[in-house]
Amino acid sequence: MNTHSSPNKIHVMKRRDFVSLASAAMGTSMLWSCKKNIIETEGASHLDMMTARGGGGGAVIRYPLKFPTVVSPSGLTLDSKLATSDLGGGLISNVWAYNGQFPGPTIKANRGDQVSIQLQNHLPEQTITHWHGMIVNHDNDGQPMHAIAPGAVFNYNYIINQRAALNFYHPHPHMLTGKQVYLGQAGAFIINDSEEAALNLPSGSYEIPLVLRDATLDKNNNLSYKPASGGMFGKIPLINGTRSPFLNVERAVYRFRILNGSNSRIFGLALSNNAAMRLIGNDGGLLAASVDLNRIEMSNGERTDVLIDFRFYPNNTIIILKDLRSGWDLLELRINSASVSGTLPVTSSSITALTNPVTTRTFSFDAMSKINGLEYEMDRIDWTVPLGQTEKWIFKTNGNAPHPVHVHGASFQVISRTGGRNQLFPWEAGWKDTVLLEDGETVEVLIRFENYRGVYLLHCHKLEHEDMGMMANFEVV
Ligand code: C2O
Ligand code: CU
Repeated sequence: MNTHSSPNKIHVMKRRDFVSLASAAMGTSMLWSCKKNIIETEGASHLDMMTARGGGGGAVIRYPLKFPTVVSPSGLTLDSKLATSDLGGGLISNVWAYNGQFPGPTIKANRGDQVSIQLQNHLPEQTITHWHGMIVNHDNDGQPMHAIAPGAVFNYNYIINQRAALNFYHPHPHMLTGKQVYLGQAGAFIINDSEEAALNLPSGSYEIPLVLRDATLDKNNNLSYKPASGGMFGKIPLINGTRSPFLNVERAVYRFRILNGSNSRIFGLALSNNAAMRLIGNDGGLLAASVDLNRIEMSNGERTDVLIDFRFYPNNTIIILKDLRSGWDLLELRINSASVSGTLPVTSSSITALTNPVTTRTFSFDAMSKINGLEYEMDRIDWTVPLGQTEKWIFKTNGNAPHPVHVHGASFQVISRTGGRNQLFPWEAGWKDTVLLEDGETVEVLIRFENYRGVYLLHCHKLEHEDMGMMANFEVV
């Protein structure tokens, strides 16, 4: 499996380029609209699905993109249990779902809201849910030492005190994270705040959460988890749990809130007509300034917030959201509406730069299971960090990358990358909680834990590496 293709063709666009590209795009898009599409048929087989993922040639059967229900985190029960899910066209798969949904319900809340969630474990093994990207105290962080046995419950209670962002909830039990996420335990947790609300970004049916992942189905169409030390790479994409999905869109501006929920696969997102996507935010919320890009890389656990402008295409145009790394078609966007609406905002947000680190720590991601030569042990604490102190953390790898590096308990700012791709990318600006380390790279970040004392985690978010032990405890003191 080759996931090492590097994003050579990243092109940071200027406003002027965007305008000319958008008009050029109209020509190309006609080609796509001529492509033959057969809308949903009943009872499609596994074989249909294998043909449906093809990038070109032959009929592609597509299914309506699914959306998990939207719920509030106040008084929410999250029941982790075995369920079945229709992946599209009546193709039923066994999954491990939150509240029977695959992916789990989309949790939405505002900054300042109280979260009270009861996790119920109806899985056949221990589990615990972590709120990736949420800054919560140790007791609410859902770490491996908090895992609960089958039949048990865990109560989370915390107040949301952080910027608007798309976060990612998923299990985090010791050595079982990859399996449980793969089998369907994953969902989006969207926080809004007054800064974001004032921007009047596309919302309601114009705001589309996309949980991207890959999967391999067995002969009974069930998700089959066959991890390898280099990671679990599935044979097909599933978007919001839908195979070969399509979405009808109007001639309007849409906001896509995208989460890479794959165990190991990195996506290189682009539109089939090479039109720009306006990147407005990432892991930790809005960027200081929006930027137009025609390719965006997303490693495991990273989030991307983009505006896509469909206003100037003729009706019946089809544009595909693609993964340029695998060549996969991820989502077919079918443009059609009686009228044109919306505006494409340029966004900005104030981001205070971290400066003057007082301590530097270096973390080497070694082989497939170690950080600084050590595998994770639940009760070993490898370093302590004073609360409120700005530090420089240096991540580097001794091979077996990519390693998407993730930190709990604080967001960080990426300040440099040397070796490998040897540059920073626009989607790495602002506040991050996960940053991609490719082979030979050294990435420096500035970080400050300012909310809570307690034990947190640093780990590789390639879930198979995490489960093999590429994870460490540290304590904020
Ligand atoms: Cu998304 Cu420690 O995890
Ligand atoms: Cu790794």
